[in-house]
Amino acid sequence: MDNSIDVLMGNTPVAQRAPRERDSLAKPQLRAEHGVSMLVTTYADGNKDSFLFDTGVTIDGVLHNMNVLDVKGNELHAIVLSHGHTDHTRGLVGLIKRHGRPRIPIVLHPDAFLKRKNVFPDGHETEHIPPSQRDLEAEDVEIIEERGPTMLVGGQALVTGQIPRTTPYEKGSPAQVAWIDDQWQPDPWIHDDQAVIINVKNKGLVVLTGCGHAGVINTLNHARDVTGVSYIYAVIGGFHLTGPMFEPIIAPTLQALREFNPSVIVPEHCTGWRAMHLIAQKFPNAFVPNSVGTRMVIGA
Ligand SMILES: [Fe+2]
Repeated sequence: MDNSIDVLMGNTPVAQRAPRERDSLAKPQLRAEHGVSMLVTTYADGNKDSFLFDTGVTIDGVLHNMNVLDVKGNELHAIVLSHGHTDHTRGLVGLIKRHGRPRIPIVLHPDAFLKRKNVFPDGHETEHIPPSQRDLEAEDVEIIEERGPTMLVGGQALVTGQIPRTTPYEKGSPAQVAWIDDQWQPDPWIHDDQAVIINVKNKGLVVLTGCGHAGVINTLNHARDVTGVSYIYAVIGGFHLTGPMFEPIIAPTLQALREFNPSVIVPEHCTGWRAMHLIAQKFPNAFVPNSVGTRMVIGA
């Protein structure tokens, strides 16, 4: 799941677009929505492992796309939530009801359960409905609530846990407050924001971000620190550089991204059109546009 779809988009050496049949427009279509969900499959030593990273913003969107793409729920060994915001978590309960048994683990940071809203300078507010711990427990899922890193089943993917904030320009989401100790309190850092890291043989690290609230540069720095692997081969996901509040940090972010020099950059979701255009311009060989249903293949 991602914000956009273009069924005519061509393949690249990395991107395999969803197959189109001649009468495909008469069949159920893939849907785009303002949300993220990635099906991640790793292959190592003859073993295949799949998990879902985020679950989209509607209850049935990801389920629908899984049906269209013929993805079987029983292939999933875990569901990882990048953070608690609605556009990454609302599809969760529907997925678990349909595919969650037996006891699929849900990996998240405890702050993902915080009730939150954004209060903007002009006074308007937007609410974030967090995943419901009660609903999840009612479905008898295993909740792995972890502030630190978690290795997923099979040991092929690392969920980072909380990411240290070190750059001076990545400051979280200044407008956010959370309901803590019976009152609204500033919660700009979104500490639950975490990434997924996979070390691909002969390539380097593949880093997946949900919304990138930790800052994509903080995330890449942390990926290096936590793995000891220096080369970031690919970064895929939301970089959160959209709208008037975040566009000012596009320049320093892309400047720092230049030093990492990834071979593949797939900006999605909340990256925003200005940052996407600049990435396409400044990293013409690395930039890969996403479209819902695309399979990014990164192999040894
Ligand atoms: Fe998001």
